[in-house]
Amino acid sequence: MKRALITGVTGQDGSYLCELLLDKGYEVHGVVRRASTETFERIGHLAGKIHLHQADLLDQLSIIDVVKEAQPDEVYNLAAMSFVPTSWKQPALTAEYTAIGVTKVLEAVKLLGRDKIKFYQASSSEMFGKVQAVPQTESTPFYPRSPYGVAKLYGHWITVNYRESYGMYCCSGILFNHESERRGREFVTRKVTDGVARIKLGLAKALKLGNLDAKRDWGFAGDYVRAMYLMLQQPTPDDYVVATGQTHTVKRLVELAFAAAGLDWQKYVEIDPSLVRPAEVDLLIGDPAKAKAKLGWVPEVTFEQLVERMVRADLARLQGQPLPDFKARGI
Ligand code: NAP
Ligand code: GDD
Repeated sequence: MKRALITGVTGQDGSYLCELLLDKGYEVHGVVRRASTETFERIGHLAGKIHLHQADLLDQLSIIDVVKEAQPDEVYNLAAMSFVPTSWKQPALTAEYTAIGVTKVLEAVKLLGRDKIKFYQASSSEMFGKVQAVPQTESTPFYPRSPYGVAKLYGHWITVNYRESYGMYCCSGILFNHESERRGREFVTRKVTDGVARIKLGLAKALKLGNLDAKRDWGFAGDYVRAMYLMLQQPTPDDYVVATGQTHTVKRLVELAFAAAGLDWQKYVEIDPSLVRPAEVDLLIGDPAKAKAKLGWVPEVTFEQLVERMVRADLARLQGQPLPDFKARGI
């Protein structure tokens, strides 16, 4: 039986990746941070099926201990401070987690299994920032626009560097935005679908947003963790862009989400200048041709299906109902 270790297992992607790897017959280990309240909401349904270990990316020895305990064949480094606006408020801490943390995990892998452990780094389309080409590919030059983007760029290059310096099996997945009903509520898709559900149910009167003109290439998180897994099943390690190849404005997201609940967005959305970023990433659109050709990866959920699914899930959650069974409904 193959063994996988996931940092960031309590996050959106960690929870979907756990499900995928369990389905594939893996023994799954996850890294969790100690907190005064539990952060296991997304993996609660997997209790008893996965092994959890306490560690923190800030603490090198704790990472080494976890790799020793889990003895993984594959390590997926998903842990990071992942919210762009917080990276302006806590730039140094963001660098510790999101940049130097990657080196700590790579060092643990190098120490304990440089010839046998495969490593995945969660890189980001935020590294393209002020984009130098449209659409963005694996060879598009980077130009990050936030402390988060800069930290992710370090994580990307240190991953490439360990592959080239030590011959380690290290892959960097340059993933564009991916969302789901498990997305943190501070990210724009979930903020909008949660806001729509609250307005629909009479729990809120308005929704405050920042820049409606920004464009993102949004996909479904469940599709994107499949690409992570596929990268580590190849004969040689490489870097891949993972995206849908389509882009939409925040405004379009808002229109679709309100329409999914039968509401006119213009009656409820207010622009709050404090939510506009000091430096914006105006346009992201990825070219997933390499992932399609080499991994056989294609996204299955469209943007429209994703938005509808998230609105329905938030409506159901706020009404105290269990989440709808989307697989059975085909959306
Ligand atoms: P997320 O929901 O914010 O999850 C982040 C995870 O990292 C959480 O489990 C968090 O643990 C953990 N973490 C943060 N700091 C840590 C530390 N110092 N030590 C150990 N664990 C720590 O993020 P996500 O959306 O699942 O994204 C997963 C990864 O992909 C992140 O690296 C993100 O930057 C990257 N990425 C995401 C997207 C996207 O659109 N979702 C796109 C490209 C790249 P707690 O629960 O304890 O906070
Ligand atoms: N969060 C948020 N809140 N974003 C808003 C709002 C708002 O009220 N109003 C407009 N936006 C715009 C932002 O300015 C940005 O252009 C866009 O919505 C998307 O913002 P987020 O959903 O916060 O995501 P992100 O693109 O900054 O970062 C996400 O994707 C990256 C990959 O490109 C995160 O998941 C990162 O971790 C990830 O690397």
